[in-house]
Amino acid sequence: MKRINFKNKILYIFALLIIVTVIYQAIILAKLSDVKQARKYIEENSKTCHICADCAIFSQKNFTQEKILVPLLVWGPNNQIQGFRESLYIANALGRKLVAPPFFPNWNHLANGSSVIHPWNRIDMQLLTKHYDIVSPQKVVEICGPRITLNLSSGIVSHDPNRYAIFKKYLGLDSWSNAFVFPISDKTLSPEEENRPLSNAIDKTYLNSIYKSDEKCVILEYPWNSIPAYDIFVQLKSQKMKEEYKEVVDIIKNTKRPAKGSKLKANLKIYFLNIR
Ligand SMILES: *[C@@H]1O[C@H](CO)[C@@H](O)[C@H](O)[C@H]1NC(C)=O
Ligand SMILES: *[C@@H]1O[C@H](CO)[C@@H](O)[C@H](O)[C@H]1NC(C)=O
Ligand SMILES: *[C@@H]1O[C@H](CO)[C@@H](O)[C@H](O)[C@H]1NC(C)=O
Repeated sequence: MKRINFKNKILYIFALLIIVTVIYQAIILAKLSDVKQARKYIEENSKTCHICADCAIFSQKNFTQEKILVPLLVWGPNNQIQGFRESLYIANALGRKLVAPPFFPNWNHLANGSSVIHPWNRIDMQLLTKHYDIVSPQKVVEICGPRITLNLSSGIVSHDPNRYAIFKKYLGLDSWSNAFVFPISDKTLSPEEENRPLSNAIDKTYLNSIYKSDEKCVILEYPWNSIPAYDIFVQLKSQKMKEEYKEVVDIIKNTKRPAKGSKLKANLKIYFLNIR
């Protein structure tokens, strides 16, 4: 029997080690080049345009004759996505077109909440705009003018006052100090509803009874959980989904996170905007 001698064994082990190391390094290098590419993409896009990058994905229709709804999102990333979905449902119910609004980093992200995230870095707009007319954030002033005077409030309170300023700056809006707070329904409110009046947004008749307006452009301030996530979950699990939930489910299906890599880009984007 031929035996591998001691010296050869050591050589084999060395060779193996080298191969493993090379593969490992290749993996690391590939990852680094991803980061480098994303950084390059971001720097190029940020230099040339703040808001218009990727705006071609939005509908090129002329929305001048339409009624518009601009949501101001609240809290963390998942809350914001939930709020965005609700806004689309509410906009549809009111016969308005939804603007893709700025998103925000998490409330504790990078300390002071002064940065902004493009909507297409949070939602796959290519997918969404195949199914719904979504207005580019760049078009808001063109359609609405610099002042939006109707503030539809969901009743939710935010503790991040910075977001007003960032929101206005991103969309190019002036002050909206004259914002009119919409009188919330005339029905008798339970103590819970007094804090969060809009709690059954799934009901389109009810939505129209409190939010219907001739005003061309409105802000929806802090949409969140007015169609309770739990109710949607129950409908998704049930054998026979209620008719009124089909649209919400359709919206959820079409508001996925952007394709792989965009999350990284979004993170770097925050970093980039912050260090400028
Ligand atoms: C959109 O239509 C309006 C009239 O309805 C017109 O005044 C405006 O110039 C149009 N805008 C664009 C970008 O075509
Ligand atoms: C909009 O309405 C809410 C609820 O009353 C209020 O807290 C908020 O300050 C209003 N926003 C503006 C910009 O006036
Ligand atoms: C918040 O971030 C901005 C932008 O990077 C920076 O200029 C500012 O000093 C920061 N403020 C605080 C209180 O950290």
